[in-house]
Amino acid sequence: MDRVNASTSSAAADDPARAAFAALRTPEGEQLLAELRDHDPADELATATRLRRTYPTELVSAALGQARLRQRAAAKFGAEDAYRMFFTPNGVEQATRTSVAAHRAARFAGLGVRSVADLCCGIGGDAIELARAGISVLAVDRDPLTVEVARANAGALGLDGLIEVRCADVTEIDASPYDAVFVDPARRGGRGRIFDPEAYSPPLSWATAAALRAPRAALKIAPGVPHEAIGPEAEAEWISVGGDVKEAVLWYGEGFAPGAFRATLLPSGATLTAPAPLPAPPVGPVGRYLYEPDGAVIRAHLVADIVERCGGRLVDETIAYVTSDEPYSSPYVSGYEITDQLPFNLKKLKALLREREVGVLTVKKRGSAVEPEEVRRRMKLAGPNAATVFLTRVAGAPTMLIGRPLR
Ligand SMILES: C[S@@+](CC[C@H](N)C(=O)[O-])C[C@H]1O[C@@H](n2cnc3c(N)ncnc32)[C@H](O)[C@@H]1O
Repeated sequence: MDRVNASTSSAAADDPARAAFAALRTPEGEQLLAELRDHDPADELATATRLRRTYPTELVSAALGQARLRQRAAAKFGAEDAYRMFFTPNGVEQATRTSVAAHRAARFAGLGVRSVADLCCGIGGDAIELARAGISVLAVDRDPLTVEVARANAGALGLDGLIEVRCADVTEIDASPYDAVFVDPARRGGRGRIFDPEAYSPPLSWATAAALRAPRAALKIAPGVPHEAIGPEAEAEWISVGGDVKEAVLWYGEGFAPGAFRATLLPSGATLTAPAPLPAPPVGPVGRYLYEPDGAVIRAHLVADIVERCGGRLVDETIAYVTSDEPYSSPYVSGYEITDQLPFNLKKLKALLREREVGVLTVKKRGSAVEPEEVRRRMKLAGPNAATVFLTRVAGAPTMLIGRPLR
């Protein structure tokens, strides 16, 4: 054993979590994990009792914990990768999902980026997709267990030739040899999610300065970041997956558009951008059609662009529902044909739904405090038909719009 490995394993021996992880990497640990590949979490107690007859108790606990994390991780990484990879509870929580990391890596690769310093690599969610895009990665994290997990993941996925994992404080890393830097600060602390960007680790101001020093950079931030916190040097992109906004990323350097806002929808990759904030769109009466923009479009303040494209208007100046008199189809909106418009009144809604024999009701809301579940519960639905009700404001007045999705 060389000196580095010897010191790593003695440090690991002092840290129960690292010792447990090291045990999982032994042939016995690997075998146990393979046995747990398809175990049913509902039978965990019986499984643990059975396995303890063959394996040491501590190893069984560690393997069951890892199996649970892999099951959770499958939603982000897909089962095929998740069951080859390793995780920590924080690591799986904070990791970027594969589709988003791959999208980001493709943007870098498309600009000719060949090397990236991944500052705050976690268990390697982003480093893996950067490497899969052919980019060599220096992956840095200061948490020793997380670093061991990231290294194991690079090896398990056959990417260790492209990913060098280093245990260090990112603020002490010289990223100047790299074509680009990627920073994904920790936005969770001991007490849960952190909302103040200066309380991120490292703080957003440090991450921004590091991004501005590099030839190109990407900085992952919370999708709810206030637009005022985004500097004029960044192109800001909001990314949704299957209609749910997952994250925002700030891009810096050549090939990106400073000051522009962008909305990207995955898995299609459809992407909408405007060079600068758009003027306020017109507001007017509800037409025959209503459009609900994707959350990424709303976060990127691109609703005005949709209004222009469909030749429509907003139903209220503060609400992101777009209306038009002609049908309009686009990946950035879900469209509905509106059949009724009524002042907000749940009794009237109940009577109308009964008359229309609606058995399945989708409740959507914007600008209303009413809980959709509560509405559905009070409706006593019965009948062969389906409908969608929008609880919203129209020109400031609480309103119900009833309709059906456009095909
Ligand atoms: C949001 S996670 C990174 C997730 C990663 N992009 C992924 O997809 O797996 C943030 C990581 O930053 C690390 N971190 C926080 N402050 C750091 C610092 N000053 N130096 C190095 N790592 C740091 C934490 O240990 C944590 O693993």
